[in-house]
Amino acid sequence: MDNLNNNKPLVEMKDIHKWFGKVYALRGVDFHVNYNEIVGLVGDNGAGKSTLIKILSGFHTADRGEIYFEGKKVNIRTPKDAKNLGIETVYQEQALAPHVSIARNVFMGREPTKILGFLDRKKMEKDSLETIAKLGLKLRNPDTVVEALSGGQRQGVAIARVLYFKAKLVILDEPTIALSVKESQQVMEFIKQLKEEGISVIFITHNLYHAFQIAERFVVLSHGEKLTDVKREDTNIDDLSLLITSGKKVSEKMSE
Ligand SMILES: Nc1ncnc2c1ncn2[C@@H]1O[C@H](COP(=O)(O)OP(=O)(O)OP(=O)(O)O)[C@@H](O)[C@H]1O
Ligand SMILES: [Mg+2]
Repeated sequence: MDNLNNNKPLVEMKDIHKWFGKVYALRGVDFHVNYNEIVGLVGDNGAGKSTLIKILSGFHTADRGEIYFEGKKVNIRTPKDAKNLGIETVYQEQALAPHVSIARNVFMGREPTKILGFLDRKKMEKDSLETIAKLGLKLRNPDTVVEALSGGQRQGVAIARVLYFKAKLVILDEPTIALSVKESQQVMEFIKQLKEEGISVIFITHNLYHAFQIAERFVVLSHGEKLTDVKREDTNIDDLSLLITSGKKVSEKMSE
């Protein structure tokens, strides 16, 4: 892979600021994701996690700051800009159409066509099943409607979609929040599989036990600022959760 030859991160956000009216949501945040890395983005409610990733996925624009993707400065103004770069966001169920098939959901809006514009249903069925199998999701019939799937399976379909369309960076904002223990476990297996496929992942969660299973590095936000950026081997769940609840760096706490 050519990307292994350079040491630059896959994505780098520099000095990102964002105001919502009087709310100063991001106060000069630096954030990066390396190639083929799973980053856990954590922090208390209102810390700015969703705002940061929405800037990356083109739903918001930063008031100040720069974004580099694969070493080049980029302007991400719309979700389409982000997708064109290979940045995909997996949302909770709203991204799926409940009444249509798994295959249609994988391709949603990007359906393959044959000459004369007819949908290539065979290709959709075959490719969607292959991708789903790659994730380790056991679904045999691509015609099953999404409504009939469990929450974990639905997340699997949404993740299969980004896998099929060759995302380089997948953003998951609280993908396990509405799921049972077993379903959450399944979703984390899907995320590991994305890494196996060479994809980088930003995983936002309040559940440090989930994050700790898969994230290789943690970035903690608090009140719009980055508190820490730490590798998994250099931290533990207790330290992280203390950091999140106190909103202070360990060094600041010590000097109190
Ligand atoms: N569209 C918006 N309009 C106005 N204020 C907003 C908007 N989106 C976020 N905010 C504010 O910006 C701050 C950061 O919010 P954000 O949603 O990024 O936090 P978060 O870390 O994702 O929190 P949570 O864990 O609760 O999802 C909060 O004070 C929030 O109220
Ligand atoms: Mg959020």
